[in-house]
Amino acid sequence: MLSRRGILKAGAVSAAGATIPDLVAERHADAAVARPKPFSRPLYVPKTAVPVHRSKTTDFYEMTIREAAVQILPGRKTRILGYDGMFPGPTVRARAGRRVVIRQRNRLRRDAVVHLHGGLVPPEHDGHPADPIAPGRYRDYVYANRQPPATLWYHDHSHHKEAELVYRGLAGFYLIDDRPERCPDLPSGRYDIPLMLRDARFDKHGQLVFGMDDDRGRNILLVNGRPQPYFKVCRRKYRLRLLNGSNMRHLTLRLGNGAEFAVIASDGGLLPEPLPATSVRLSPAERVDVVVDFARYREGSRVVLYNTAGSSDATTRVMCFHVGERVPDCGDLPDELGDEFDLGDAEVVRDVNLSSDPKRRRFLIDGKTFDIDRIDMRIRCGQTELWRVHNRDRRPATLHNLHLHGTHFQVLERNGRRVSGHETGRKDTVSVPIGGHVTIKVCYDRHLGRYLYHCHMLDHASMGMMAQAQIIK
Ligand code: C2O
Ligand code: CU
Ligand code: CU
Repeated sequence: MLSRRGILKAGAVSAAGATIPDLVAERHADAAVARPKPFSRPLYVPKTAVPVHRSKTTDFYEMTIREAAVQILPGRKTRILGYDGMFPGPTVRARAGRRVVIRQRNRLRRDAVVHLHGGLVPPEHDGHPADPIAPGRYRDYVYANRQPPATLWYHDHSHHKEAELVYRGLAGFYLIDDRPERCPDLPSGRYDIPLMLRDARFDKHGQLVFGMDDDRGRNILLVNGRPQPYFKVCRRKYRLRLLNGSNMRHLTLRLGNGAEFAVIASDGGLLPEPLPATSVRLSPAERVDVVVDFARYREGSRVVLYNTAGSSDATTRVMCFHVGERVPDCGDLPDELGDEFDLGDAEVVRDVNLSSDPKRRRFLIDGKTFDIDRIDMRIRCGQTELWRVHNRDRRPATLHNLHLHGTHFQVLERNGRRVSGHETGRKDTVSVPIGGHVTIKVCYDRHLGRYLYHCHMLDHASMGMMAQAQIIK
């Protein structure tokens, strides 16, 4: 029988345990699942989708949203939800100015919605949670691709379920390419590689574990759906399209030895000029295209891509490039890439407040949780606005970011400091520092109608940190 002292002691132990459940869970999950040896397996490059039909103006695609079992970890299959059963989904390569129609069939037992993130798409094709594809049905999404060439992605947007469905695999790349003759000196073809970086948590059977707001439990970083791969490169320049596809994790990416690379594009397309950098930060859903010149390394070198914001080996050493032989390269990077992006003087000023109510697990924009039937702001089409976006979550300190559907915006400053690097380009997602703010210029100038804006830490979005703007004449 336990003495009173013994009981107290046992109580103290369990109480101490209770204060650090996340830590225990992390260790447990880490220990439970066998990861492959770092850099022992090749990078998986998602296959490029092939149109079922091409007309003079349009490429037609078909995809099936379904469950599948894929190999992520050694010796076992993981059940995922995937476009065409793939994780990540097939890469769509659209051509600027040429229309794409994707017929999405839903073979899940639940509704699905497909959103084209970064696409300047009319509301009826944007993938609004109020327009789901019922099980067994399909929907044709039409994308005009009348916007600058850029790295976009498509992902699920089901009402209150986007966090879980994206986490379980419903995400893929959608690249808008220029005509090759317009940028002959940018690496293309097999030297142009999309990399979707995101974390995940597995149980001891190698199955994905989804817990809402479980950012600390997701302790394995995946590159195109596989942990710590290696990738054989030639000694020449590569274009890497980096997407932070995590629900919650923020990344700070750096090459081994702090080697320099060139940042050439932000969320919405090419920057005016290449910008040299040694590290780049990406909050969830942000993209950056970089050019890395592997000709600087000797044949046989190993170059590791690091996430210096990681918390363990599995989230810090992202992947490894194995440098092979020299092959013909494109020329030097052009000095001029895309257009300057400046939205001009603002006529309207607004504040947008991101906050949470942790006791009730509610996440709020301007004090309100998402209501699919409510319009939160009315904005005149073509009018430039200045938004001060505040993160009010000092205690407990919680990161947020902000994503707008239907437009690209310009980021001016964060906590009083001008932004630099990829954040000077066209953006659709921006991080908002704890207890601080970011100022952006916004102009919806394409389509009238209703567009979402939300935190792209998707667990927050699914818990209500989402609102909608009505664009009016
Ligand atoms: Cu990545 Cu509402 O979207
Ligand atoms: Cu979006
Ligand atoms: Cu948030």
